[in-house]
Amino acid sequence: MTELTQNQLLELVTTKQIAAGNPRVRALTQRIVTDLFKTIDDMDVSADEFWKAMDWLARMSQGGQIGLITAGLGFDRLLDIRADEADQKAGRSGGTPRAIEGPLFIAGAPRSHGEARLDEGEPKGELLVMEGQVLDLEGNPVAGALVDVWHANEKGGYSHFFPGMKPYELRRQIETDAQGHYRFRSYLPPGYAIPPNSPTSELFEALGRHGNRPAHIHFLIAAPGLRTLTTQVNIPGDTYIDDDFAFATRDGLIVELEHNVPPAGYESLGISAPFTRSRFNFVMQKAINESEASPAARMARVTA
Ligand SMILES: [Fe+2]
Repeated sequence: MTELTQNQLLELVTTKQIAAGNPRVRALTQRIVTDLFKTIDDMDVSADEFWKAMDWLARMSQGGQIGLITAGLGFDRLLDIRADEADQKAGRSGGTPRAIEGPLFIAGAPRSHGEARLDEGEPKGELLVMEGQVLDLEGNPVAGALVDVWHANEKGGYSHFFPGMKPYELRRQIETDAQGHYRFRSYLPPGYAIPPNSPTSELFEALGRHGNRPAHIHFLIAAPGLRTLTTQVNIPGDTYIDDDFAFATRDGLIVELEHNVPPAGYESLGISAPFTRSRFNFVMQKAINESEASPAARMARVTA
């Protein structure tokens, strides 16, 4: 057969096989290719439109922007919504809500016990201490939990991705003390936007959407026997708090800020004047298998 209709071609593309392959990958690929063939036909996609899209995909991928696109098109939040739904069906509830990891986690941040400074030198924003406990669902403190915390600098950039920043700047791993306490000093990060003149901004301009994220701080918290918690907290008052490009704002994750807290007791963090404090406890569910307690971040889980 050398002449083919669309349907005959689709049949060939989705059924050719000389070995078993991976049945799950085969099924997903068949579905996606079928849907795309249908989209191209239904929307009368021209050859130029198709190749322009392929050029965009290649540039987006080469530029390391896949994680921005997945977040901006809702996939990261979708996976969280589906995980919440699965939990509800399984009768699992309680604890700090999960929130998207985002594409900018880096493993191996310097570890310290109980407390850490994320900032170096003069704070480049309003000085902040965030502190609290890691607890299990019964309210017991979790000693030795590993709290990875990372956030953007005053220009909205993350170390390892933004030029001019030091390795692990604004990234630390804090091991909770015997009472499950953690605390860190840093500065209030601003919100940030997707990079201008990038494949991501091209798409969002074409969609007539903005690319702003409200100010937030990321966490990845792991402890033996407990379900690894990936979440982020929002700083109150941000313009985009209810209009996040990545759809990540959640109830229960907007922190409160106390201003003009006296410095007594915070000397070890280099604080000698009134400062802004946020108290927040992280509550972790029990893990029901080893995989749930894995401390690996999302890409490390699938590329190990
Ligand atoms: Fe972020």
